[in-house]
Amino acid sequence: SVSRPTDLVVFGGTGDLSMRKLLPSLYLLDRDGHLDGSTRIIAVSRDGLTDADLRDKAASAVRGHQAVQVTEPDVLARFLERLSHITVDVGGDASGWADLVAALTPDRDRVFYLAVPPMISGGICRGLSDAGLVTPESRVVMEKPLGRDLASSQEVNDEVGAIFTERQIYRIDHYLGKETVQNLLVLRFANVFLEPLWNSRWIDHVQITAAETVGVGGRRGYYDGSGAMRDMVQNHLLQLLCLTAMEPPANYDREAVRDEKLKVLQSLRPLTGDQVIEDTVRGQYGGGVVQGTEVSGYLDEPGGSPASTTETFVALRAEVANWRWAGVPFYLRTGKRLGHSRSEIVIRFREVPHTIFPGTNSLPGAGSLVISLQPDEGIHLTMLAKTPGAGALRLRPVPLELSFADTFATRSPEAYERLLMDVLAGDSTLFMRRDEVEAAWRWVDPIIEAWNGLSTTPETYPAGSAGPAGAHRLIGRTGRTWHEEEQHR
Ligand code: BG6
Repeated sequence: SVSRPTDLVVFGGTGDLSMRKLLPSLYLLDRDGHLDGSTRIIAVSRDGLTDADLRDKAASAVRGHQAVQVTEPDVLARFLERLSHITVDVGGDASGWADLVAALTPDRDRVFYLAVPPMISGGICRGLSDAGLVTPESRVVMEKPLGRDLASSQEVNDEVGAIFTERQIYRIDHYLGKETVQNLLVLRFANVFLEPLWNSRWIDHVQITAAETVGVGGRRGYYDGSGAMRDMVQNHLLQLLCLTAMEPPANYDREAVRDEKLKVLQSLRPLTGDQVIEDTVRGQYGGGVVQGTEVSGYLDEPGGSPASTTETFVALRAEVANWRWAGVPFYLRTGKRLGHSRSEIVIRFREVPHTIFPGTNSLPGAGSLVISLQPDEGIHLTMLAKTPGAGALRLRPVPLELSFADTFATRSPEAYERLLMDVLAGDSTLFMRRDEVEAAWRWVDPIIEAWNGLSTTPETYPAGSAGPAGAHRLIGRTGRTWHEEEQHR
């Protein structure tokens, strides 16, 4: 499909997100024929760049992106032609806004992408409105962080909501753009065999992990005020939990899907007081070796307080208190500077009600379904099979594997490609509705509050390790094990 002719205006258009994700993804969409010939990309910043400066910067961002691999000179030239830069000082004089008005074409779709810190989103929206740039067909894209707690998220939603209707607002959670995440819904709702098992009767517990080898890099300033809970759990991990736990929607459309996700968030059992101590673990990375490279600890990363108690790791036990899931723990875990990068959802099925093969029930890894997002996309089901041989009957866990790379000859698009395409097409199914974001904060806020009231600080774990020991105690308390440990048992 090809987008409609659109003026895509990116505020923060020369910044990190724009260079690392947005422009390379737009290049890939252009290369693959998804951008209408006349669609233009207007980067807005205070930097005072010329169009030529912007194009140079964009060209190296595109060339340096891992998904681009070989840049095709003709395609790159065509892509760069679409780009222009406008200097607007959002809180400053009106001349920049007038330049923006002059740059936009009447009667075309307009998308305003806010790749800026949330506190200036409201000012930009008012500026757009005052300049008469907001048409009924305009859309606005909001990037995370969408606030730092319920109150601040309501504030920014109110400000943007005063100018744009909810249907015009696209709140990005880039995890929803990942291929395997969308495939999770297909796996669950386009096949008949899993859904009857998808409940507390047959599922023992669920593990959702997003483990990263990277540290906070140059983002210490942002991260110190955020931490893993706000940066990863409130959005990405809870969205994965929603898609795993939700009821079948009546159809694959924006309201139906988001209604069901919202119900999951509303069913989360609140974690407060002592329950927070019991069911959550915080960690912070110290120095160590990650995949052969020596790295410094969080407190030595430049740009933040040397006494910071910001968590770079969280593990917690959540419960979805409804008929389908009562009593099934959902273990969520994320961390930076861990030994391996791995994002996955593990569904651990219960043991058979009665075994006729004594001694085989507790074989490691038997009866788990792993939906793997990164580094390889795939679905792996482990089941027990008989080992060949005429001797004593022996069972062994064996994998049934679906690797997307091997099965489909085409490359998987970047999350941002999918989401940008959806914004251009006006489809917000894979974006977060205001009530979802707020329901997630409602659950997260009391946990952070309880942490702030504790005298304990996050447990230090060596960079390159599997995270703090507390995470092992958390899951081990009930005799369960993290998936990767089970495999090596
Ligand atoms: C971002 C977080 O939203 O997601 C980063 O701010 C994190 O801290 C990133 O590294 C992880 O995304 P991905 O796609 O690499 O798993």
